[in-house]
Amino acid sequence: METRGLKATIENIAYSADIIRGGGLVAFPTETVYGLGANGLNPKAIEKIYQAKGRPADNPMIYHVSSPLQLESLARVITREIEALVVAFWPGPLTLVVKKTSLVPYIATGGLDTVAVRMPNHPLALELIERAQCPIVAPSANLSGRPSPTRYQDVWEDMGGRIDVILEGDDCQVGIESTVVDMTIPGQITVLRPGAISPKDIKSALEAVNIDDVKVLWERENNQQRGYGENPEISGSEKSLDSQETPKSPGMKYRHYAPRGEMIIVEGDRENVRDKIQELKKKGELETNDKGQGKRVAILFLEDMDPQELAHSFFSRLRELDRQGVDLILAGAINQEEDGAGIGGALMNRMLKAAGHQVIKV
Ligand code: TXA
Ligand code: MG
Repeated sequence: METRGLKATIENIAYSADIIRGGGLVAFPTETVYGLGANGLNPKAIEKIYQAKGRPADNPMIYHVSSPLQLESLARVITREIEALVVAFWPGPLTLVVKKTSLVPYIATGGLDTVAVRMPNHPLALELIERAQCPIVAPSANLSGRPSPTRYQDVWEDMGGRIDVILEGDDCQVGIESTVVDMTIPGQITVLRPGAISPKDIKSALEAVNIDDVKVLWERENNQQRGYGENPEISGSEKSLDSQETPKSPGMKYRHYAPRGEMIIVEGDRENVRDKIQELKKKGELETNDKGQGKRVAILFLEDMDPQELAHSFFSRLRELDRQGVDLILAGAINQEEDGAGIGGALMNRMLKAAGHQVIKV
């Protein structure tokens, strides 16, 4: 298939919206990562996404809307806490999992009766959705298991020749995917995937409108049981966990964000981390890779840096190291908020997955 790369002009957005309406696939920028979009009401178009990405069929997708009103056609129930979060955070990097209406085809939800919805904070994405006149279903525009794309060049790397159009916008500002929250139980909000919007942000937004009887839970323990902790199986293959298991957020059980090289995280006191990384680097460089050449070793995030800045560039750095043919990536654990639930914690979550949970504590 020939893929067209188009700059973000009004004509090109209108053209791309027609492609979506007609059942084609268009990659487009959002504030988090690039999405791979299809008409969310057309099962055949949605099927193409699974094929283009090599995505397992039980991994559901996020619906992207251009206005809060559009949520009404997708969600069967809108509680006051859903309403409050929409008002507080949309457009923005917060995805709400709600009970679905019959308008939403099961192929998009992996057979679930719930649907994930968000309104992205990006003018190009909003214009595209509005002109397509349908909600756009869009996972991240990477091949399944690869780092999410945050630059249009990254989308080309994975999707060139597999989709109709790549809308070539700017680099994604946030750099990691949206926070996903389960809103299906009234009075209880559960964070399924950490992101730029933290449980604390959610709590304060609710309190600001006098909603103080809603619990906000973070599925950290749960996430660890599902492989965020030291589960040795996770680094094996993409479908490494028992496929009989039905986790709350099915996407979370698969291996994600994997660079081609091996990655190890070193965690602890700053000086010790620095020493350990230097030691591992020297040791690694004496070894040979599977081609019989000396191992190429790269260091990622040794210095203290702003977690927001790190999140912005994390996935593109992984891809850059891949292009350089790096065999071993050594990363210092990044600074996290005390409760580990802000953007620092969200980034650490991605790093752990990229490293297949190989962590050395010093
Ligand atoms: O920032 C983002 O969310 C990006 C941009 C493109 O919007 N999209 C994205 O999509 O990250 P994707 O498909 O890579 O991740 C969707 C996540 C998965 O972890 C999936 O399991 C979860 O959302 N999800 C989708 N529908 C769900 C549902 N009905 N119940 C629970 N989790 C759901
Ligand atoms: Mg993804």
